[in-house]
Amino acid sequence: MKTDFKRISVVGLGYIGLPTAATIAARNIDVIGVDINQSAVEKISQGEAHFSEPDLDILLRSTVSTKKLRAVTQPEAADAFLIAVPTPFIDDHAADLSFVEKAVRSIAKVLEPGNLVILESTSPVGTTQLICEWIAKERPDLRLPYEHRDKPDINVAYCPERILPGRMVWELVQNDRIVGGMTEHCAKRAKSLYEIFVQGEIHLSNAHTAELVKLIENAYRDVNIAFANELSILCDKLDLNVWDAIKLANRHPRVNILNPGPGVGGHCIAVDPWFLIHGSPDETPLMKTARQVNDGKPQIIISTIEKQIDRFREPVVACLGLAYKPDVDDLRESPALQITKTLMKNETAELLIVEPNIDELPASLTGDHVHKVDLDEAIEKADIVLLLVAHKQFAALDPRKINETVIIDTVGLWS
Ligand SMILES: NC(=O)c1ccc[n+]([C@@H]2O[C@H](COP(=O)([O-])OP(=O)(O)OC[C@H]3O[C@@H](n4cnc5c(N)ncnc54)[C@H](O)[C@@H]3O)[C@@H](O)[C@H]2O)c1
Repeated sequence: MKTDFKRISVVGLGYIGLPTAATIAARNIDVIGVDINQSAVEKISQGEAHFSEPDLDILLRSTVSTKKLRAVTQPEAADAFLIAVPTPFIDDHAADLSFVEKAVRSIAKVLEPGNLVILESTSPVGTTQLICEWIAKERPDLRLPYEHRDKPDINVAYCPERILPGRMVWELVQNDRIVGGMTEHCAKRAKSLYEIFVQGEIHLSNAHTAELVKLIENAYRDVNIAFANELSILCDKLDLNVWDAIKLANRHPRVNILNPGPGVGGHCIAVDPWFLIHGSPDETPLMKTARQVNDGKPQIIISTIEKQIDRFREPVVACLGLAYKPDVDDLRESPALQITKTLMKNETAELLIVEPNIDELPASLTGDHVHKVDLDEAIEKADIVLLLVAHKQFAALDPRKINETVIIDTVGLWS
């Protein structure tokens, strides 16, 4: 499609920024990817991703070899800047915006009148406005849209990302997008950028609403998963099968209960609701309770396992899966990793860990009684099989093969 964006910079080349940069470059636009991680930049410059995501390597190889995508460590001038850097939380669950601030201050130096700046990082309401203020401090020569709503020099907008790891390359193009501008014109300008590669609908709003929308989407998921997790705790007490109960309840035409699991992990659902709760605790008791229910689930699983471990003299536990969700290599905030780490620290059993999506165990999992093994070995040697993630390799296993062993299925694959 025809566009006046000749050069687009993507700042932060992680799970979100890298597929975005490669997708735009594949539309024949010059893309400069910026990341402070030197080794990631080197890998990308060889046409390889520094994490695993289906179809991303093919896209990278072609866009890097045609020089449409270039990875660098320092920002360069461009027509538009998309910021996709981390937004974790700090100790009291406040959002840590330091990565966003540093990224914004670094691009401020190369901004030129007419540029567009879009924040994609999940952020508390008001962050896009802060971006304008940070730029204004670095560049008093530029008119920013929070003070100069009429014809600002720089257009600033917020556009949250909703792509699902494992399907990112496809969803980047197909998903609907919400674009919130600091002004109506900023929103329209940002929309014209996404039209380069998005085939889903692009909905316009203001920056504050777009920031809120992303947070409430994930809070909605968190609250609903908490309900499912609470049901699983209740069913354990009643000695009933929660999976059967949910399956039957979902036959009601207006009921759709989600799946319980070992907790809630990942960079988004376990983190983002705090951005609402921290700023407005009195208005968000339900969201806070949901966070506590989901955060408490790993400990409940650990207690269940420890009771089983007590039955054996030299117990061997197979821990199946470490990732925070099926078929990805992402261990961030993973309840499976948290449970495995606690079992390791408790030193009550030998642990055989199976995680088909990573080559080596993380540094936090080391010890004489911790081994990374393949699925067959784990099943053969274990007294207790603890299923933590519904990876496709585990789904393919016939649970009847392991019916001599104690099975603790936290994800409902074999239940
Ligand atoms: N991963 C997901 O599934 C997902 C989905 C939706 C939204 N998000 C949000 O998108 C944002 C990015 O997440 P991610 O998963 O891509 O994170 P990530 O950690 O995979 O990648 C972020 C990248 O930014 C780089 N970076 C940090 N500071 C920088 C700076 N000043 N300049 C340039 N690069 C810098 C890091 O080195 C890293 O490579 C977060 O706010 C996250 O909540 C993530």
